[in-house]
Amino acid sequence: MKPRIVAICGTRPDAIKTAPVVLELRKYPEVECILVSTGQHREMLAQALSAFGLAPDYDLDIMVHGQTLAQVTTRALEGIDSLLEKLKPQWVLAQGDTTTTFVASLAAFYRQVPVGHIEAGLRTDRIDRPFPEEFNRRAAALVSRLHFAPTSRAAENLIREGMSAASTFVTGNTGIDALHHVAAISEAEWFPEHKGRVVLLTTHRRENWGESQKGIASAVRQLVDDFSDVLLVVPMHRNPIVREALEPILGGHDRIKVIEPPDYMDFVKLMQRSTLILTDSGGVQEEAPTFGVPVLVLRNTTERPEGVHAGVAKLVGTEPTVVLNESRILLTDDDAYKAMAQARSPYGDARACERIRFILLRELGVESPEVPMWT
Ligand code: UD1
Ligand code: UDP
Repeated sequence: MKPRIVAICGTRPDAIKTAPVVLELRKYPEVECILVSTGQHREMLAQALSAFGLAPDYDLDIMVHGQTLAQVTTRALEGIDSLLEKLKPQWVLAQGDTTTTFVASLAAFYRQVPVGHIEAGLRTDRIDRPFPEEFNRRAAALVSRLHFAPTSRAAENLIREGMSAASTFVTGNTGIDALHHVAAISEAEWFPEHKGRVVLLTTHRRENWGESQKGIASAVRQLVDDFSDVLLVVPMHRNPIVREALEPILGGHDRIKVIEPPDYMDFVKLMQRSTLILTDSGGVQEEAPTFGVPVLVLRNTTERPEGVHAGVAKLVGTEPTVVLNESRILLTDDDAYKAMAQARSPYGDARACERIRFILLRELGVESPEVPMWT
């Protein structure tokens, strides 16, 4: 029987970043790669995978509206455990830092199946920031046999925690592979009738729920009033808590488009169409520099400091006056804008999936072309 790899995803970002790995592994008929979704996300996961022509081979379909962390954890753990018993894989792959990632790695550990952790080693200095993602990724690292770090900084974090150098590889982020794959085929055209600038806002993080998110919304509404050529586009995360905070403040303005989340194929073009992006999303922070679009990060800390150090992203927090002022500067000061608008990614070269494929297949005794590690 062929060696079997089970790749597990559950949310929009882990689907986007797992999909190109699955496509790469499926080029090698010596192994079988099965895609499992916990269904932690439903519509948003389907949208993400469809950009790659993929659908899960198994879908645990666990999502309920307003789900708690404990509900996601217990339902996913039972479902993944049953599947691992049935599929008996040689390896499990889990991506990132969602509850699905944590549970997938735990379930594999309990069944003594080795885990490869994609996007390993992102860290802040507090286990509860971001909550619960910092815990999820640290826990996944504890039980993983292979750590696929997106950057050398992430690899250093892992080594500092005691992971062996022999198990830790700097691959680049598979999200950059995904981005290149999709940008090359997407044909979406956004707001051709609008001749002015587009500012894009996404916000969904738990630590910004409530007053912070309302403050962000008030700041960007003021920004639109201050700049008559600006169209603000706000794709709404499906989480009802996010919608309740944003909709009352952002609704009813003719230059604010509050829209359903576009699928990944279209969203990539929306990022390209934007002059400025304000976000608390991890994935969007990583993607925007590829297109040379400056990013203001709506958080007080980030586990992705590479963009800030490269000068393509700026950490501004959620204080409304600061968000407004930093946005104004970029919309009025050409030099400040040009300094940030550099099309270079500190997160990868779009070959992360090839590196992961080489390392994993080597573990399985299957030869395949080697790619030098990302630096
Ligand atoms: C989750 C992740 C977070 C990640 C984010 C990406 C955890 C604990 N959180 O947060 O790390 O950054 O996804 O988007 O893993 N919903 C739908 N349809 C969907 C998706 C969500 O209706 O397709 C609604 C449901 O009511 C669901 C709620 O959103 O109960 C929350 O989903 P959940 O995955 O628990 O949390 P997120 O905030 O999406
Ligand atoms: N994304 C998307 N549609 C949207 C918003 C985001 O396809 O309306 C993509 C985005 O390009 C990135 C990923 O979703 O690849 C990020 O997901 P999200 O912000 O939900 O999660 P995070 O990265 O913060 O965990």
